[in-house]
Amino acid sequence: MEKKTFYITTPIYYPSGQAHIGHSYCTVASDAIARYKRLQGYDVMFLTGTDEHGQKIEIKAAEAGVTPKEYVDKIVADFQALWKLLNISNDRFIRTTDGYHVKAVQKIFRALYDKGEIYKGKYEGWYCTPCESFWTETQLKDGKCPDCGREVKWAEEEAYFFRLSHYADRLLQLYEDQPEFIQPESRKNEMINFIKQGLGDLCVSRTSFTWGIPVDFDPKHVVYVWLDALTNYITALGYGSDNEADYQKYWPADVHFVGKEIVRFHTIIWPAMLMALDLPLPKQVYGHGWLLFGDGTKMSKSKGNVVDPVVLCQRYGVDAIRYFLLREIPFGSDGVFTNEALISRINSDLANDLGNLLSRTTAMAQKYFGGTLPAEREADPLDEELISLATALRGKCDEAIRGYQFSTALSEIWRVVSRANKYIDETMPWALGKDESKRARLAAVLYNLCETLRIVSILLCPFLPNTSPRIQRQIGAPAEALTYEAAAQWGRLPASAAITKGETLFPRIDVDKEIEELNALLPKTSQEAEKEAAQAGKSQPAAPEGVAQIGIEDFSKVELRVAKITACEPVKRAKKLLKLTLDDGEGVRTVASGIAPWYRPEDLTGRSIVLVANLKPAKLCGIESQGMILAADAGENDVKVLFVDGIPAGSRIH
Ligand code: ME8
Ligand code: MG
Repeated sequence: MEKKTFYITTPIYYPSGQAHIGHSYCTVASDAIARYKRLQGYDVMFLTGTDEHGQKIEIKAAEAGVTPKEYVDKIVADFQALWKLLNISNDRFIRTTDGYHVKAVQKIFRALYDKGEIYKGKYEGWYCTPCESFWTETQLKDGKCPDCGREVKWAEEEAYFFRLSHYADRLLQLYEDQPEFIQPESRKNEMINFIKQGLGDLCVSRTSFTWGIPVDFDPKHVVYVWLDALTNYITALGYGSDNEADYQKYWPADVHFVGKEIVRFHTIIWPAMLMALDLPLPKQVYGHGWLLFGDGTKMSKSKGNVVDPVVLCQRYGVDAIRYFLLREIPFGSDGVFTNEALISRINSDLANDLGNLLSRTTAMAQKYFGGTLPAEREADPLDEELISLATALRGKCDEAIRGYQFSTALSEIWRVVSRANKYIDETMPWALGKDESKRARLAAVLYNLCETLRIVSILLCPFLPNTSPRIQRQIGAPAEALTYEAAAQWGRLPASAAITKGETLFPRIDVDKEIEELNALLPKTSQEAEKEAAQAGKSQPAAPEGVAQIGIEDFSKVELRVAKITACEPVKRAKKLLKLTLDDGEGVRTVASGIAPWYRPEDLTGRSIVLVANLKPAKLCGIESQGMILAADAGENDVKVLFVDGIPAGSRIH
């Protein structure tokens, strides 16, 4: 009989900076599902990869002085090494720069164009030539450019558009017909509201940069990066190539795991594209939550200060990290990542509960029976609760995993582990060991503990793929006792099993000492951040451990003032910097700010911003910078200056 298939994907990550624990989170979760489904007997396809085109990467590469391909090649290799380290069992890894993907995207774009689903249109609006900006009628100020106050003219620029607006009703219908399409539930309402506010057509080509897939019939346009990226889920299966066998076999996907910030792309644009192509839709998009720093801000590579998964794995082991990520935070919710919480989980759940259960059991089997339990065993009503809990565990895990509730599955497993530890206290095998007439009873107690460990080890395998086999070796379980079926059956461990006491699974961590060591690592990173901030001329966010509290007297040492940008120019020697000339209400001053990737000089002139007026002057790339302007990290690699237009220059901010 053909096996049932199961197709699961992660987002394809931007190789614009190093992978961090946030990327690891989604990949580890997907891996646990892929492994669980394989255990259940599914023919699994598990896909991950990298999303390598777009202006962001083009800019990063230019800053680094290399070609975009050279730039991504290096980071992609690091991503792949990290997945290997984390024991990720992906079946495929797609790079959007792979030739087969590029060809398939061009084919899809053309097919949509031929069907009239993509049309050539124009971006139009009031254009300010010096500012190179389009404005809508309502954005104009007195009919002039809102930035520089100069004359604007009506202008048009050609671009390709996808008829997204046609799909509003079908999308709403989809959410109704397929209630599980968007999970968790709360994200569905966001999407419904978004669509109800009105869906416009989507601009799906760009001419302002070149690092992308060219539209083959009009090569001055490159394909919009999201259209390029989303199709990866089918091109990786060979869709649009000479061999579509895997596409036929695995599509539609059973689930796309994505972070909550990109649910919109996956539940609006992606299904609409598939509808336009007359292709089946994925069965579900699951929007998981964010890992946050201790101070509640989102971790991301653009913040320059992340918890490095490689360092964490080196210190605590891969399975400890996997366990923490899956156990600590209910999938779908946000959760805070702190080193204290991680260490505390390792000590209590892994070292104490699981580690001790195994080491006590194997040590006693060695001590009392030389590692092989006698076949003669004496049962007792005391055993029943443990046996029934352990045999019911598979059903509990299956149910939790069906809803992608990792944390529930793990806590069910730990309920059984705790019950087994309690069983040791109740049965007191050390007392039985002193009484020659209780040999058969002692054998039963130890056998029951080994059986519990056997079942636990099977169900834990998807989550802790390194640790499970270590448990299985120590209790001497043969392969046939380690199947999915055997996880729901009591008594599968043969009496002849050779039980050995092995290495400790998870050494206990001395919390105080460890935190001290971690703190010793921290100043280095914050110094680096400061150095970077000084180079970039803008502030960096706090270290992951959170920010110290300050009193109002500390805050009042900072003089914040409204200033107006009277002139702005790029800095030749530093691509990231803009040189701003400010009217601060009292006089003119110069500030260098690392916002060139996000703002053009023309966009800034005439606008009012918040100035840190009493910052010590610093020399940045030959410019004396007399202060700093405030900006927000507004998401992944996105910076937004705080504008306070309309407030007079010189106004104090308290
Ligand atoms: O958005 N907490 O790529 P990306 C939890 N290329 N998950 C996090 C996280 C955090 N702090 N930070 C990142 C893109 N993630 C596009 C996707 S798909 C066709 C294209 C995870 O590099 C989370 O799964 O910004 C998030 O959706 C994904 O990384 C975004 O990775
Ligand atoms: Mg992102």
